[in-house]
Amino acid sequence: MAHFLVLHGPNLNLLGQREPDIYGPQTLADINALLRAKTESCGHRLTVMQSNAEHELVEAVQNAPGNHVDAILINPAAFTHTSVALRDAFAAVRVPFIEVHLSNPHSREPFRQQSYFSDLAKAVICGMGVNSYTFALEQMIQWQATPAKQK
Ligand code: DQA
Repeated sequence: MAHFLVLHGPNLNLLGQREPDIYGPQTLADINALLRAKTESCGHRLTVMQSNAEHELVEAVQNAPGNHVDAILINPAAFTHTSVALRDAFAAVRVPFIEVHLSNPHSREPFRQQSYFSDLAKAVICGMGVNSYTFALEQMIQWQATPAKQK
């Protein structure tokens, strides 16, 4: 059984009411329910956290090895474009992670086109709405069934 950690960054608690033309109609609870159902149907464990506070996300990443987390799925939201601290946490713990975005930041304002995470991530999925999350989770589940040297 693997343990996956899903981290949602700032303002994602407002999904459903926040710019639905960009981020879609689903709430964070809808997304978490989908991820939980998929994880549990495969016999794995899921921990989910949303925070608007950078230090809480940094601490969640720092604590991942001690909590026996096998892989992290993160939508860093606005911290994607600003947070050296969160980037450094991922570099420190070396837990494999996938960066996801509901929208495609590359097709939006110039300041969204830089990510502090993409070069460290195992994969980046964006622009597919909720499917960005479910595809990322499916990939993480597949890694568990793959011998380490092929990952
Ligand atoms: C986002 C894209 C970011 O640029 C933005 O700050 C968000 C959400 C996305 O999921 O599309 O808050 O990460």
